[in-house]
Amino acid sequence: MVILDGKKLSNDIKNEITEVVSGMKDRGEKVPHLAAVLVGNDGASLTYVGSKVRACERIGFESTLIHLPETTTEEELLKQVRELNANDDIDGYIVQLPLPKQIDAQKVLMAVDPDKDVDGFHPTNFGKMSLEMETFVPATPAGIMEMLKRYKVDTQGKHVVVIGRSNIVGRPMSILLSKKGNPGNATVTLTHSRTQNLEEFTRSADIIVTALGVPEFLKASMIKDGAVIIDVGITRVVDEEATRGYVLKGDVDYDAVKEKASFITPVPGGVGPMTIAMLLSNTLLARKRRS
Ligand code: GUN
Repeated sequence: MVILDGKKLSNDIKNEITEVVSGMKDRGEKVPHLAAVLVGNDGASLTYVGSKVRACERIGFESTLIHLPETTTEEELLKQVRELNANDDIDGYIVQLPLPKQIDAQKVLMAVDPDKDVDGFHPTNFGKMSLEMETFVPATPAGIMEMLKRYKVDTQGKHVVVIGRSNIVGRPMSILLSKKGNPGNATVTLTHSRTQNLEEFTRSADIIVTALGVPEFLKASMIKDGAVIIDVGITRVVDEEATRGYVLKGDVDYDAVKEKASFITPVPGGVGPMTIAMLLSNTLLARKRRS
């Protein structure tokens, strides 16, 4: 069994980007500038956005964090988005999800300039991705593709079962893996909360990508020997003995499943760090396109 070490891979990618950025600096060029908009004080979102901003600093990007109150109205957020679109210094930006309930997230994502949409959530970019055109690919599925590529996991003609149909992970993942290419050319089943007899699908899967958010949902009895297991779940579970009062749990019953799997991602240290690396990579692409 091979552990897919996202932390190491993301460090490799960040080092590659750092070299490119230092070349830009040496030539007196503008370095990439990422902005992140965070609305409210959701604990997990604060952590994620903080990691994104810190990663920018580490690799020599400029970064701007725009932290708006929980009570921000849709119009106020749209105004912020329009300002970021017009700000020539910003190469790319993200609006961290989820947004408070008074805001229609789809409306906000639609207002983002597709050329600055480094999350790849705008319909233009999502459409381009679906049509196999070059564009910003959502960071989490892009990170999983990069992981499969660098570890040379064979996806050609394999049966992939994706669990969860979110716009951020499950649905784009199903599209990317079914595309022509390597990794790609997989036969994909996209399963979700209404899927009947889920275990029949998972037990026949060569590769399982789970993005459900239910701790330890995927049990060893649900997979076949030698399956590749990609765990996107990351849920805070209360644990009084832990320093922060919680521990992070993936969707996979890791200790039992790893005994049957051929490749597996740990949580934390698997898919999470790859998401950040791919966001940085998209931001570098945004800068290059604008220069
Ligand atoms: N919330 C969870 N994942 C993501 C992501 O990749 N981008 C944004 N903007 N919000 C998220």
